[in-house]
Amino acid sequence: MSILLTGGAGYIGSHTAVAMTEAGYDIIIADSLQNSHPAVIDRIGEITGRKPLFYKADAGDAEALRRVFEENEIEGAVHFAGLKAVGESLRRPLKYYRGNLNPALTLLEIMREYDVKKLVFSSSATVYGEENPYPYTETMKTGSCASPYGWTKFMIEQIFSDAAKADDSLSVVLLRYFNVIGAHPGGLIGEDPQEITYNLMPLISRAAAGRTGKLTVFGGDYDTPDGTCRRDYLHVMDLAEGHVKALRYADGRSGAEAFNLGTGEPYSVLEIIAAFEKAAGVRVPYEIGPRRDGDLPEFWADPSKAERILKWKASRSLGEMCRDSWNWQRKNPDGYRGGEEDPE
Ligand code: UD1
Repeated sequence: MSILLTGGAGYIGSHTAVAMTEAGYDIIIADSLQNSHPAVIDRIGEITGRKPLFYKADAGDAEALRRVFEENEIEGAVHFAGLKAVGESLRRPLKYYRGNLNPALTLLEIMREYDVKKLVFSSSATVYGEENPYPYTETMKTGSCASPYGWTKFMIEQIFSDAAKADDSLSVVLLRYFNVIGAHPGGLIGEDPQEITYNLMPLISRAAAGRTGKLTVFGGDYDTPDGTCRRDYLHVMDLAEGHVKALRYADGRSGAEAFNLGTGEPYSVLEIIAAFEKAAGVRVPYEIGPRRDGDLPEFWADPSKAERILKWKASRSLGEMCRDSWNWQRKNPDGYRGGEEDPE
C-alpha cells in the first residue's frame, strides 16, 4: 500500500516525501513538474535510500491521475499540487481558480472511484483572512482572504469538508501552514522557486549570496516591537513530520479536521535577518522600504490543537531554520538547475 503525494516534487512535498519514507511509508509522487525539477526524485532517493515511484502527471488531468491509481494500491493521498504565488494570483485570478480547484476536484473524484479514504490537504494560514485576532485558532471563522490564492485554499477546505460530510468513511485532515522556511539539513533538497520569488527567506539567502542587490524590508513603521512585520516561521522538516502525524490521525476516522502547523512564536523581519546573519556567518545587505500592499502587521499560530491531538510540536529553532536555508543556497546556488547544460 502506498501514499500518493500530488505535487510531491515541490518544496514542501519533497520534504514530506523524505519524512514519510523515513517513517516507513511507500511513497508515490505525481507532479506536473510545472514548478519543480525532476532531479528532486533522485535526491529524495539519495537521502532516504528509497527512491519514490514517480509519475509526471498533473493532478488536474483525470486520465493521468487514474493511471496512477490503476497501477498501484493507494491507501491515502496528500494533496500539495497547486499554484502558490500570492501576487500572481491577484493579476491572474482565473489561472489560480482553475489551476488549484481542478486538481483538488479531480483527485477527490478519482479517490472515490478507487475507494481511497484518507486525505491530507496542504492548506495555509491565509484562510484566516484579514479580520481575525491573533494568535489564530482553528475555531475562528475563515474567509475574507486577501488574494485568489488564499480563496482557493479556503474553497478547497470547504470542498473537502463537504465531501467528508457526505461520505462518513472519508477522513480529511486540513493542515494550515504558517511561514515555512529552512531545508533538509543535508542540503540536497530545498526551496527552488522557478519564477521570481517574493518570499522572505529565499530573498534573504540570495541577498546574502550577493546574487541580488539589497533586500528591501517592507515597512519599518508597523505597530510591532521593532516596527517590522512579525510572522510565525517554522522549519520545513517540522512541517513535513506534521504530515506523517496527520496521516496517522486520519486512519480509520471520518470527517474533516483542521490543524495549525506553526511554532506559536512570532519573529520580525529584522529578527530573521539577524538570526540568519548569526547562523550563516554572513551579512545580509538590506534597507527599510515602503510597506507592501496587503501585508498584515503580524500574525501567528496557536499550535496547541496539533500538539494535543496530533502529538506534533515544532522542535527546530530559528537558528536551525536559517542555517539549513543557507546551507541549501550555498550548495545549490542555481537550485536544481545547477550543473545542467545550457540549452542554448
Ligand atoms: C504569504 C502568504 C501565505 C503563503 C506565504 C508563502 C498571504 C496573506 N500570505 O505569506 O499564504 O503561504 O506567502 O508563499 O497571502 N518581506 C520583506 N521583504 C521581502 C519579502 C518579504 O520585508 O522582500 C516580509 C513581508 O513583509 C512579511 C514577511 O517578510 O512580513 C514574510 O513575507 P512572505 O515570505 O512573502 O510571506 P507572507 O506574506 O507572510
